[in-house]
Amino acid sequence: MAGITSSIGRKYAMALSAMFLLIFLVMHLSTNMISIFSEDAFNTASHFMGYNPAVQFLMQPILIFAVVFHFVMGFVLEIRNNNARPVKYAMNQGSANSTWMSRNMIISGAVILAFIALHFYDFWIPEISYKYIQGNNPDELRYWEELHHKFHDVWRVVLYVIAFVLLGLHLAHGFQSSFQSVGARHPKYTPFIKAFGNWYSIIIPLGFIIIAIYHFVTQ
Ligand code: HEM
Repeated sequence: MAGITSSIGRKYAMALSAMFLLIFLVMHLSTNMISIFSEDAFNTASHFMGYNPAVQFLMQPILIFAVVFHFVMGFVLEIRNNNARPVKYAMNQGSANSTWMSRNMIISGAVILAFIALHFYDFWIPEISYKYIQGNNPDELRYWEELHHKFHDVWRVVLYVIAFVLLGLHLAHGFQSSFQSVGARHPKYTPFIKAFGNWYSIIIPLGFIIIAIYHFVTQ
């Protein structure tokens, strides 16, 4: 069995963290979508996520670990690939035998990383501070208003939308690539995985874009 120190082991671990994040994105989008349909339901769902011990002290640390792992491993793989390729792109004649997305995963990944830093500054850090540093009592009605208020700033919306487009490009290659890396390759299933991945990489970022724009235009 290849360990994490081998090249195959690293690709495998990278793919597993990617698949975990693919599931997280569906859950995150579903929860945020509620904010479009019902202020009350969004407050209830957010309050549950924010104060449930299993979510807070088990799922959240696992998620943060997966995010950090995915980025660190992505950079390690990129550096190793470049070092293993003395004549840069000798085999890779641009769009002739690979897509822009597949050649630039590190660029789309870096933009998403920058987005996550901004996103944590916007939502996660204030939440941690509210609960654990200022020690406020739970207020079940605050979440929708906080989210809605973030999108009053047009530049915030523009930055978020740019990040979501890059997220779509990242997913367009990453979805099917993660399945290949875990060895899920079959003449019968691979076309389905690719088609599903293409739809996924359009629908998920589009959903996030709709949420950001909805809150901006309803200020
Ligand atoms: C319009 C789009 C989005 C909205 C409105 C939104 C909203 C939020 C909110 C309100 C939180 C705070 C959760 C808490 O209270 O702790 C959060 C956390 C987070 N978001 Fe987003 N998000 C969006 C898009 C994204 C995207 C595209 C990603 C990933 C690429 C992402 C990754 C995360 C992560 C990793 C956390 C920390 C999770 C946690 O709290 O445990 N978000 N988001």
